[in-house]
Amino acid sequence: MAQIEASILSADFARLGEQAQEAESAAVDAIQIDVMDGRFVPDITFGPGVVRALRRLVRVPLDVHLMIVSPERHLSAFAEAGADRLIVHQEACLHLHRVLQSIRELGIEAGVSINPGTSLTVLEEVLELVDLVQIMTVNPGWGGQPFLSGQLDKIRRLRELLDKRGLGLPIAVDGGIDQATAPLVVSAGASVLVAGSSIYNDRATVAQNVTALRASAG
Ligand code: DX5
Repeated sequence: MAQIEASILSADFARLGEQAQEAESAAVDAIQIDVMDGRFVPDITFGPGVVRALRRLVRVPLDVHLMIVSPERHLSAFAEAGADRLIVHQEACLHLHRVLQSIRELGIEAGVSINPGTSLTVLEEVLELVDLVQIMTVNPGWGGQPFLSGQLDKIRRLRELLDKRGLGLPIAVDGGIDQATAPLVVSAGASVLVAGSSIYNDRATVAQNVTALRASAG
């Protein structure tokens, strides 16, 4: 069964706590908090204080997606704030192996993410250091962007690589995940669906959107 992570990037920032609670009540498997620094990606979003505030409100795992340069500067702050997993971008790390080791030393899960233009080969030496690989199916920076279907082949190749190495790591996908694209990415080998605008929108409630997304993923 695919896991659903609600990305709060598309939530109503004036009601962030309530929107996180709505996602938890909708039985999402985790909440993904998209941290942006205005350098790795153009927008600026959340810091450790928002993680700390949400940690007080919900029990569901908090998955912090660090779209920031030199994330090693902030790992302990986000861990102390209550993150259950820190996902760093390979493109943002000068010493990716050491950054992932540092996350594990904090006693929380480590994830690595790559952008659409980045090849899987950059992950070959660190797959034993992570608990999840996240494939970006949009160029990061905003919610609501169209899904890049060219990434489906990358998901398939990653699944083959992990299976060949005997690594049962989950593959997360992030960007443009909705009822139409969810079955495509699951068939390709993804098992963690990060969704923002298909969960937080004015077309239906959070609960209705999560239910529909889960159903579409099979
Ligand atoms: C990078 C962000 C977004 C977000 C999901 O831009 O990481 O991908 O989580 O946004 P949606 O689901 O609206 O594409």
